[in-house]
Amino acid sequence: MKSQKSVFICSSCAHESLKWLGKCPQCGSWNSFVEEKVEPKAPKGTVQYKGARPTKLKDITYSNTHRLLTGTGELDRVLGGGFMPGSIILLGGDPGIGKSTLILQAASKLLLPVLYVSGEESAQQIKLRADRLGVDSEHLLLLAETELNAILQAIDEYKPSLVVIDSIQTTFDSNLDNSPGAITQLRECTSRLMDATKKNGFTTLLIGHITKEGTIAGPKILEHIVDTVIMFEGDSSNSYRILRAQKNRFGSTNEIGVFEMLDTGLREVQNPSELFIGERTANVSGSVITCTMEGTRPILLEIQGLVTPSHFGSPQRVSNGFDYRRLSILLAVLEKRNGLRLSNANVFLNITGGVRVDEPAIDLPVCCAIASNLLEKRIDPSVIVIGETGLGGEIRSISNIDKRLQEAERIGFTKVVIPSRNVRSITYKGKLKILGVDNLQDALKHVLIQ
Ligand SMILES: Nc1ncnc2c1ncn2[C@@H]1O[C@H](COP(=O)(O)OP(=O)(O)OP(=O)(O)O)[C@@H](O)[C@H]1O
Ligand SMILES: [Mg+2]
Repeated sequence: MKSQKSVFICSSCAHESLKWLGKCPQCGSWNSFVEEKVEPKAPKGTVQYKGARPTKLKDITYSNTHRLLTGTGELDRVLGGGFMPGSIILLGGDPGIGKSTLILQAASKLLLPVLYVSGEESAQQIKLRADRLGVDSEHLLLLAETELNAILQAIDEYKPSLVVIDSIQTTFDSNLDNSPGAITQLRECTSRLMDATKKNGFTTLLIGHITKEGTIAGPKILEHIVDTVIMFEGDSSNSYRILRAQKNRFGSTNEIGVFEMLDTGLREVQNPSELFIGERTANVSGSVITCTMEGTRPILLEIQGLVTPSHFGSPQRVSNGFDYRRLSILLAVLEKRNGLRLSNANVFLNITGGVRVDEPAIDLPVCCAIASNLLEKRIDPSVIVIGETGLGGEIRSISNIDKRLQEAERIGFTKVVIPSRNVRSITYKGKLKILGVDNLQDALKHVLIQ
């Protein structure tokens, strides 16, 4: 008799099927089913369930636990003010982006015991990296291990405040038949680590890989289980790295942390505005500076537009760091409301520094950059442009205006173009010259120079 069965699991959404399917009926992803062995269940009646008792909300007490500050400000902010004891965090990112570097640097600054479990590198390799980064710590214990039970035993023995598992894909439970990285292994290892974390009140940080296809190794499947998911993003073409929270049960998901990858490791960028606009060439058309909010933090960015005639049937539209569909809408507004002929032109849009922005407050600067390049007129280099553009070409109000104005003044700008409606509500009393605008036409009149 066959004691073990197989089941097929979608690696994107964990949907289960008894047979292999080309397309997942739940999430629609293609070729995502992988075969998993199912452990035989205990015969009915052999397991005794003990029901948990509900407690009145007002009777539940908790102690005010202190968060673990890593001393790496950018990481602490993204976590919502440091590591929460008893929580489990997943750090994801492309191969080679710098996940191990970030965590080794942060862990070495902690003055509490840290257990760094590496399944990918030997203790010597980690020591080599630590020497290159110039970090050393009395409190940092290294363990080159991949077997979950051995890891849990080491945790029990050394009682660390922070456990780092680098990476969850290499960790496996030898009681299961599946190979490391299989979905069953990932789920089982994560839930057992989670049990230990919650029970003993330490913090666990799992490092996870994303494969090119986003399958098998994909930490997506773990996102539901863990408390916090942070992603380390970056462009292989530049040295900036951005840390972003995707899910956080203990803090906001709007904050970002900015780092620069150097030979000596990751350097925190405390002043991203200066970094992102530092290489601006003010004397060409199509370049404008705006101020976006990343969580509670205002950041100045450069937006570049390039418009060229299209010699083929359908013109090209390329957008880097800005929603492609939003760009199409703005081009339609510029054409219809301002009479700018863009339907036969190639339009390229770029937000410099590899930053991605989703907020509508950068609609107006996007329109200004494109119009500036199309009309071959420069944008006043002393001006900052902020505002949402409506389909009627009207400029709509935006949030956090005071913070944005303060940042613009701090970096040395002298003028700012903002929605008229915002002018009435500002409490800012600085030196910036504030120009309120009602529509695109007005805005272009203020910002374009010869
Ligand atoms: N000797 C070195 N000198 C300078 N930079 C280095 C050196 N070795 C590695 N790096 C930088 O560190 C990056 C790799 O960092 P790290 O190993 O922390 O990434 P990772 O995300 O943990 O990778 P993996 O997915 O392989 O675990 C490299 O891409 C490179 O930019
Ligand atoms: Mg690594």
